[in-house]
Amino acid sequence: MSFKEEIQKRRTFGIISHPDAGKTTLTEKLLLFGGAIQEAGAVKNNKIKKSATSDFMEIERQRGISVATSVLAFIYKDKKINILDTPGHKDFAEDTFRTLTAVDSVIVVVDVAKGVEEQTEKLVEVCRMRNIPMIVFINKLDREGKDAFDLLDELEQKLGLSVTPLSFPIGMGFDFKGIYNIYEKNINLFSGDSKKNIEETIAFDDVNSPQLEKIIGNKAAEELRDNLELVNGVYPDFNKEDYLKGIQQPVFFGSALNNFGVRELLDCFIEIAPSPRSKTAEERTVEANEKTMSGFVFKIHANMDPKHRDRLAFVKIVSGTFERNKPYLHVRQNKNLKFSSPNAFFAEKKEIVDISYPGDIVGLHDTGNFKIGDTLTEGEELHYRGIPSFSPEHFRYINNADPMKAKQLNKGIDQLMDEGVAQLFTLELNGRKVIGTVGALQFEVIQYRLEHEYGAKCSYENFPVFKACWVEPADPKNEEFKEFKRVKQKFLAKDKKGQLVFLADSQFSLQMTQQKYPSVKFHFVSEFD
Ligand code: G4P
Repeated sequence: MSFKEEIQKRRTFGIISHPDAGKTTLTEKLLLFGGAIQEAGAVKNNKIKKSATSDFMEIERQRGISVATSVLAFIYKDKKINILDTPGHKDFAEDTFRTLTAVDSVIVVVDVAKGVEEQTEKLVEVCRMRNIPMIVFINKLDREGKDAFDLLDELEQKLGLSVTPLSFPIGMGFDFKGIYNIYEKNINLFSGDSKKNIEETIAFDDVNSPQLEKIIGNKAAEELRDNLELVNGVYPDFNKEDYLKGIQQPVFFGSALNNFGVRELLDCFIEIAPSPRSKTAEERTVEANEKTMSGFVFKIHANMDPKHRDRLAFVKIVSGTFERNKPYLHVRQNKNLKFSSPNAFFAEKKEIVDISYPGDIVGLHDTGNFKIGDTLTEGEELHYRGIPSFSPEHFRYINNADPMKAKQLNKGIDQLMDEGVAQLFTLELNGRKVIGTVGALQFEVIQYRLEHEYGAKCSYENFPVFKACWVEPADPKNEEFKEFKRVKQKFLAKDKKGQLVFLADSQFSLQMTQQKYPSVKFHFVSEFD
């Protein structure tokens, strides 16, 4: 198969949702279709459960397993599908944001009864900002839920999407009869038997035919005709180009648990979803079909076994082919590295591979060389952008609780920050270290890992911060900037990259500071132009 064909056949995507909408169940059903797993439940057992919020040890245990589910790959109808796992747990939202830099498209799962929920809003916003093509799957149609049109409205209003339904439910909950597939022009009848692999599909391109009554009954037939007429009148026709540009989002309805509507989703997905796309580096835009290899690290996973303290860096291949034992330039460190055992991911296994293509994810064993966002190339100086840090939600001073282990503590903090577990800020005034996290849980995780992996002990102290604001560099001679730095010295810190950060202690003080120093520019993400 030619290089171009290899690229064409790849679909690398993520499934995003609010916890409990059915992401894990849908992932599993997709894997079943791909023949990648034999029974349901295989992925589910690896999931970080809601109940684990107060039990971080359980999360750590599961983290060990979750490396296997970080990338789930399988072949379906000659397409190589790579599903990148995005943790639904909100304390791991940063992980999900970073993973979204490595996907070429996403599927958004929404619970029919709950509609658009908070976590979905946040994640979809990130996708919208990056124009990532999205397909929406409205799940749990076997249960009573919201009216389909109300849901479509909600998607438009709350998520700012421009939707077009490609399937439409016939009844719902107790009365759920099936789905009319607008895209394929057929009717799928719901049997409610999840073990059945193929539900009954009846080709049906003329909904006005009296046959419809015979299949779904008088009332449902009339309702379906009305609904489809409304769909036709209100929503634009599906336009693949608009979908690929991220300005139109097709919607499917179904029930992941009952394996209903999933095949339709997958079949449409492989047809319309993009193969690996070009990616913009600071220097230029790189096309997937360029011959020379480039890729970037979007995730680092530490081995939890203290005897093997290596880490696995996940690299998304952007262009060219990644080959085993070939030297690549680690751009940030300006040194060449060779990898004798790059891992590829299949279903739930990982194995050593000789060659990987754009869209693929390779797992590289790392002894501390990599940080999130690092770029590998064949010599060109490229820096892939788009892995920004957002302001953390929780901040605490971190103190050394064992003076004999200062070195270990610093090394541990350094490496955990490289992995992206949390963000480190060093105060300008006194050099004290402040840790910022998305969820309160991470403080426990850090403390535990510092002790068990690095033999260091830490303690925390409260540090009330409302938001970390990245300060745009200004002329150091600028009087206003100088004044700002002098007056606010107590609240200024450097992040890990040495960028200046203003740690505002309240919304009010942030507003006052902005008013007082209008020429000082604040940003709420770490990357800005
Ligand atoms: P998540 O990864 O998005 O958090 O959701 P997950 O797939 O774990 O699904 C959350 C719950 O919703 C699970 O039930 C799951 O069985 C159920 N579910 C998923 N899809 C459907 C569907 O199409 N119809 C119905 N009725 N339920 C669905 P649970 O009781 O929390 O977990 P479990 O005990 O079944 O594992």
